Amino acid sequence: MTVAYDFSGKVALITGAGGGIGRATALAFARAGASVVVSDVNPAGGEESVALIAAAGGNAIFHRCDVADAASVKALVARTVDHFGRLDFGHNNAGITNSVADEWDDDVWRRSLAINLDGVMHCMREEAAAMLQNGGGAIVNTASIAGFTGNARQPAYVATKHGVIGLTRHGALKWARENIRVNAVCPGVIETPMTDAVAKNPEIRKVMEAMTPLGRMGQAEEIAGAVLWLCSDAASFITGHPLVIDGGATVS
Ligand SMILES: NC(=O)c1ccc[n+]([C@@H]2O[C@H](COP(=O)([O-])OP(=O)(O)OC[C@H]3O[C@@H](n4cnc5c(N)ncnc54)[C@H](O)[C@@H]3O)[C@@H](O)[C@H]2O)c1
Repeated sequence: MTVAYDFSGKVALITGAGGGIGRATALAFARAGASVVVSDVNPAGGEESVALIAAAGGNAIFHRCDVADAASVKALVARTVDHFGRLDFGHNNAGITNSVADEWDDDVWRRSLAINLDGVMHCMREEAAAMLQNGGGAIVNTASIAGFTGNARQPAYVATKHGVIGLTRHGALKWARENIRVNAVCPGVIETPMTDAVAKNPEIRKVMEAMTPLGRMGQAEEIAGAVLWLCSDAASFITGHPLVIDGGATVS
């Protein structure tokens, strides 16, 4: 089902938009008429997303940003406002997972926290300051079902995604009276470059699909749809909500 929004005149900023969920969200915002800032630490992926948006008739620029670096995020939001004149929507989506590296290792742990948690904080801080200049906006952070449940392999990933939900609740309260709504999407297993190893291994894929009541992996567009909905007036009374999109994986 396609839900049409009209975000003409609005400006959306998406981090981690060089692929996967962020790219799908950037494309969806552009198709809905928003001007889009595609941001990623990886310029090749980001430029490819901009080209896809242009091919679909949308309006987007790429700005390279490492969300772990506060100065880099400040420059990203400043460029957004310089170029498009305002900021209405922020999708703080950049994140990493470590399927092989040991997250109990100090360096791996710190890098995970720097990107997955500090990165979201840096973005929320700068985006809210820009949104306050034009009367408000909406922020959506990408958490995960790992923000609700534990898993035995990824202490840093689980801790950061729990943290993103906490930050989302904080932001919702902090800016509630200033017309900025802050929500989170919490995906289950979604088919993106991050889950390539799962998707391409028939054995593992079968196990993941069997663990999901809807019987399949999710698609990035199914997260993008929720992000746009949370930013739209249809969700105007929703703030501080971590929205689980997991095909029922965490229901039982
Ligand atoms: N795919 C899933 O199953 C799944 C499930 C739950 C949550 N998530 C979350 O969704 C988000 C997007 O993941 P995805 O599946 O699209 O993965 P992905 O790997 O396709 O996309 C992540 C993007 O973030 C970028 N990135 C990495 N480090 C960065 C940094 N320091 N600064 C800026 N950009 C950086 C990468 O270059 C990449 O383009 C992540 O936060 C992830 O934790 C994904």
